Amino acid sequence: MKRMSLFVLFLFFTGFLFGQSFNHVTVIDTSFDNGSLGGWGPRGSVQQGLERVELDTSVKRSGAASMRISNRTKTWQGPVHKLTDNAVAGDVYSMSAWIYYNEGPAMSPFVLSVQRSFKDTSKAHAYQNITSFQVRRGEWTEIKTEYTVGADPTQASIWVYFELPFKEDHLVTPNDRITFWMDDIKFIKLDPASRPKAELNIPNLADIWAPHFDIGTAVTRDEVDFSSPTAQILMKHFTVLVAGNEQKMESIQPEEGKFDWAPADAIINFGEMTGMRFRWHTLVWHTQNPAWLFQESANSTRTVSRNVLNQRLRTYIQTVMRRYRGRVESYDVVNEVLSDRSGLRTGAEGSRWHEILGPEYIDNAFRWAKEADPTAQLVINDYNLESDTRKRQEMFNLVKGMKERGVPVDAIGIQMHINIRTPSVQQIRETIELFASLGVKVMVTELDISIYTSDTEPIKNVTPALLLEQAQRYKDIFAMLREQSQKGNLADMVVIWGTTDHTSWKNDFPVRGRTDAPLLFDGRYQSKPAFWALVQPTRVQGLR
Ligand code: XIL
Repeated sequence: MKRMSLFVLFLFFTGFLFGQSFNHVTVIDTSFDNGSLGGWGPRGSVQQGLERVELDTSVKRSGAASMRISNRTKTWQGPVHKLTDNAVAGDVYSMSAWIYYNEGPAMSPFVLSVQRSFKDTSKAHAYQNITSFQVRRGEWTEIKTEYTVGADPTQASIWVYFELPFKEDHLVTPNDRITFWMDDIKFIKLDPASRPKAELNIPNLADIWAPHFDIGTAVTRDEVDFSSPTAQILMKHFTVLVAGNEQKMESIQPEEGKFDWAPADAIINFGEMTGMRFRWHTLVWHTQNPAWLFQESANSTRTVSRNVLNQRLRTYIQTVMRRYRGRVESYDVVNEVLSDRSGLRTGAEGSRWHEILGPEYIDNAFRWAKEADPTAQLVINDYNLESDTRKRQEMFNLVKGMKERGVPVDAIGIQMHINIRTPSVQQIRETIELFASLGVKVMVTELDISIYTSDTEPIKNVTPALLLEQAQRYKDIFAMLREQSQKGNLADMVVIWGTTDHTSWKNDFPVRGRTDAPLLFDGRYQSKPAFWALVQPTRVQGLR
């Protein structure tokens, strides 16, 4: 009896070790060789114009036939297939497919996306680009990626589809309407035991930089679930957390007087259990606000009065800051208050705060924040301060004036959403030194380094050469930050805007359909050359 059970245990463990007990589920496996499209069909509708999705025996990668997608008139037209009727948070799907085209441009971008429906069927579907990639004309190209289902409890079904990067209908050119073929498509739901795992046997990022500053990252509620691989990365490499969205007003106070702390608290609770420090982003911003905020309570078609909006602002700041007093150390009190053209952002550039309250809302926000938590670090945060010397000077003047008026501002946050080429290290250094000359600290609040140098740069594949260039940039910038910290110019944390590339806000923004790779870890939770450039540069071949 005893021997028997040991034997069973032995089988179990060998199965486990050699990967034989994995229970992958093949969800889609279409080779188009049995005379059927295997569930693939067009995305378009009869009203909007229907693309043709059909079998083609004259073009194929293997077997007897492939699937041809023709007669396309919109970028988003392509083949679609149901992935699941039951979206389960954390499920990982491995996706592989072959794609081919033979007309038009020498290279063409394609995008693999998912569409999610919700239990509340009146809610609009959500679309998400999983990966964008280039295919060479006349060459069957494999696209391979993974997709992890998010933790949204309201979602229902998920579909997958292939398309070209989104463009408004009136901008569509013949290159966006090309016919393409697909073959050998395989989507597999991975057994939980073989989902990609965070790489943990590597140096610790935060430890290495601890002599100079703490290192933080922006997180989502999904990522702070202990079962998420990202949570493992967070615990190992970061000592500061900020919420990517969960601390914004639309999330905290969706309706007047109704505060929803749950999403923000999930992040704070995780951080407190794992010994993190916290930033808050952001108390006042011109976007991601609830609709009621700028409306009269009694009549939503009327704009709120100046008095009432001032009260709402003060109550909001103080409710948040009193709740987290002694727990959140550093607040973006105002975000992006400067114009991209001249002076402060006004109503013309989307600031209803400025439109209704005038410029003094900024001073007031800082004063009210100071009342609520006198020990918190109060930050004014903005973007493009390094690259745009006009904006940089406006920030200098604004903070100089605030200090002269006795407004309690402790630090200037530079977001640093930059790219592999610009701005130069010297431009960033000059910005930090200029701001520090005001007697405030400078904090890097949202660092990421895009692989794209402009909004017009076409989709490119993430090559080793590109990753090396990015690693070099991270290395050079952190060397300069170390020097600035030694001069006493920097705050004691540097915050990166996200952890793994597949969740970066740069996917699908500012260019729709274009995915980016601006962070230190890739979509499989593995360290990138950029990570090694910060912890052990000698490991990256070709780094200067
Ligand atoms: C971004 C979030 O990361 C996205 O998830 C969201 O869809 C839009 O906002 N500057 C900021 C941040 O100050 O609030 C923005 O965060 C990124 C740019």
